[in-house]
Amino acid sequence: MTIYLDNAATAFPKPGPVCDAVDRTMRQLTTNPGRGGHHLSLEAARLVFETREAVARFFGVADSSRIVFTSSATEAINLALFGLLNPGDRVVTTSMEHNAMIRPLRALADRGVEVIRVPADPAGITTLSAIIEACEKKPRMLAMSHCSNVTGTLQDIGTIGPWCRRNDILLLVDAAQSAGLFPINVQEMCIDLLAASGHKGLMGPPGTGFLFVRKGLDVRPLVYGGTGVLSDSDRQPDELPERLESGSLNTIGLAGLKAAIEFIEKEGFERVRSYEKALLHQLLTGLGKIAGVTLYGPEDLEIHGGAVSFTLESIEPATLGFRLDREYGICCRTGLHCAPDAHRTIGTYPEGTVRVSPGYFNTGEEIDRFLFALRELASEVRGL
Ligand code: ALA
Repeated sequence: MTIYLDNAATAFPKPGPVCDAVDRTMRQLTTNPGRGGHHLSLEAARLVFETREAVARFFGVADSSRIVFTSSATEAINLALFGLLNPGDRVVTTSMEHNAMIRPLRALADRGVEVIRVPADPAGITTLSAIIEACEKKPRMLAMSHCSNVTGTLQDIGTIGPWCRRNDILLLVDAAQSAGLFPINVQEMCIDLLAASGHKGLMGPPGTGFLFVRKGLDVRPLVYGGTGVLSDSDRQPDELPERLESGSLNTIGLAGLKAAIEFIEKEGFERVRSYEKALLHQLLTGLGKIAGVTLYGPEDLEIHGGAVSFTLESIEPATLGFRLDREYGICCRTGLHCAPDAHRTIGTYPEGTVRVSPGYFNTGEEIDRFLFALRELASEVRGL
């Protein structure tokens, strides 16, 4: 029996309606949206528009043309950073970021952008006071994750966003691990740029993601090319979303993303969150009772996302993950999780941790089976 506990990497399985929408679109509507006047192209364009509207509705965006589809949260972060920052600009970030943020910032630092990193506390929390201190020499942008893919730590964007707005600092939020799991309203939270993937908490297909760009911001394209509009010009159009969406769109993935958002809305966002929170509670309580286990991240469930990191004494994370998979069929992710700074922050660099991340389709029984497996392995490796 397989137990999948790697939903922070991607949600699995996907909801039935998502699979159906992908299958139906693949069979009936793989026509090119915005690239023709015939009825099948128009139908595909309508589907893309409806997906944009669904994303906008879900994240409190008034004008859906400010939602730009990308292939991933990584692409969305790159688009925001390279599209706005120039040599000489200053950007503040945190010590809990994923390489999706760290590496483009490193590339920009090599081009003359000053990057300042705010240290988080050992639970992964970046406080507003630490951010205020790091912003003493006013930066152009604060670029940070909402929820850690290593510790599940949720940052207080609801407080940080309004402070940035009052101080005229652009706020880019990487919501790869929070979109679909925690409520996000870009207007209320004063988020200028929101980057998210469609296949994690939102439970859509891989290859989907988006960037929300607040009205008034002019983001330079990462990719130039055909957009289906103003075809007589050799210049990129000015209007969103076309300006930032060159090349044919992933209609199949977007059909799945629309179905995924509708699925969460139908199940009830609060219900999904409560269920996932109950699994998390069971997991954290059970792990806390196993001798030799060290847990990382916040204790408060209210600021704990789906990723749970731990180590077990006397066994390396990679070996433990391998044995959980081979001997018990349990899928989890070990090592540095593409987030070396986060591991430095919590003191687990360079071996990393074992990360388990339950999702909406896990059951309490599966969590119990995982805990049973870990208890057995813990007794064995500790020589009991
Ligand atoms: N960023 C994803 C993870 O944390 C892939 O596993």
